[in-house]
Amino acid sequence: MKQKFCSLRGMRDILPGESALWQQLEGVAREVFGRFGFEEIRTPIVEETALFERGVGEDTEVVGKEMYQFLDKGGRDISLRPEGTASAARAYIEHAVHQKEPVSKWFYTGPMFRYERMKTGRYRQFHQLGAEVFGIAEPKQDAELIELAFAFLKKLGIENVRLELNSLGDADCRRRFSEKTRAYFSTHRHVLTEELQKTLERNPIRLLDSKEEVMAPLIAAAPVLLEHLDEASLEHFEELQRLLRLSAVEFTLNPRLVRGLDYYARTAFEIVADDALLGTASTLCGGGRYDGLLEQLGGPCVPAVGFAMGLERLCLLLGANTQPEPRGPLLFLADAGGGDEAWKLLSRLRKGGLAVEADLRGGSVKSQLKRAHKLGAQYCIVLGEAELQTGRAKLKDMRSSTEREIALEELEGILR
Ligand code: HAM
Repeated sequence: MKQKFCSLRGMRDILPGESALWQQLEGVAREVFGRFGFEEIRTPIVEETALFERGVGEDTEVVGKEMYQFLDKGGRDISLRPEGTASAARAYIEHAVHQKEPVSKWFYTGPMFRYERMKTGRYRQFHQLGAEVFGIAEPKQDAELIELAFAFLKKLGIENVRLELNSLGDADCRRRFSEKTRAYFSTHRHVLTEELQKTLERNPIRLLDSKEEVMAPLIAAAPVLLEHLDEASLEHFEELQRLLRLSAVEFTLNPRLVRGLDYYARTAFEIVADDALLGTASTLCGGGRYDGLLEQLGGPCVPAVGFAMGLERLCLLLGANTQPEPRGPLLFLADAGGGDEAWKLLSRLRKGGLAVEADLRGGSVKSQLKRAHKLGAQYCIVLGEAELQTGRAKLKDMRSSTEREIALEELEGILR
């Protein structure tokens, strides 16, 4: 028996019926992100594993457990990118962009890979739309990014979302808090599962957003990050909140919001949609400030902040409510014995830039017209010997079912 192939678990095909929605999403992204002054970057899908280990953090779940990591034929340790920020930072450093411009505002969209346990809204190949800004430390930049995320969602018609906000303080503050959290949870080590104990060793702050049931009472009594912020971070955070209020962006403070990637310092935020369609994968967008990352990767001391959205999750939300615009061809050419002349006309009209379709299988005029309907063609012409001899044919408007006679040589002009 022949082997039947399927796509890998957690990796989906986007078939033509669905791709219209993706194009719509990407089109809106280009328009809105462009309006906010963002330019597109495209980085490779594969990078050295060490970039993610050092950038995102070896102890994070994303890098420690979920990477598609392998040796290439040259024995290099490489990984499919699990996210876009480390690659953007690597590109920024590699091309010494800070020497060319003081501020860079970049966006990207493309596939990311994480070997996750499969659930609704959680895939192993998924797509992100991300934005990264290099060169601005002021909270105005954090606020602008949040406004951008909301402007994009609003343009898509997604409004029932909430913004959760936290500050993780500067690197020292985060380190101190991490130790404090470790000390606190260590006293409860006996109730932690083996997995949670590993997190306690590696990255204790992550315990604060654990969803495990045993953790709820412990988390409720755990130290609160916002109460341990360094003064400069507190000022930064308060200014961000003031700016958001000025632009009427609503938010809630969530002191347990710690994010799953190690590079964050100061602002961390998530935009969440409480919609049954998303199940537990309700976070549409996650982001924050990562002022220390570039230096950590051997680059200049340049502040940075960004976010990324999961496009599959947006599609899940939108798919239920949007009907993509029908986009059939402008003209369908039915061949009723027109032979080479029909073939030449099809070629000429297409060269002229018009969207024209025909049924290349031939067949009866009736079956060809059926195909024209199925494709959603706007107009149709049946081309037989008589039409070619007289140079005149009937142009049928498929939507109103009306027709009028036209000269074939005027066809292009009329269609335009
Ligand atoms: P993240 O929170 O890991 O952040 O991912 C951002 C978004 O990607 C999530 O909120 C979610 O919508 C989507 N996402 C993540 N994992 C999956 C998955 N397995 N399946 C489907 N969607 C998923 C980052 O990646 C950071 N790089 C964001 C950032 C940019 N921070 C600063 N700049």
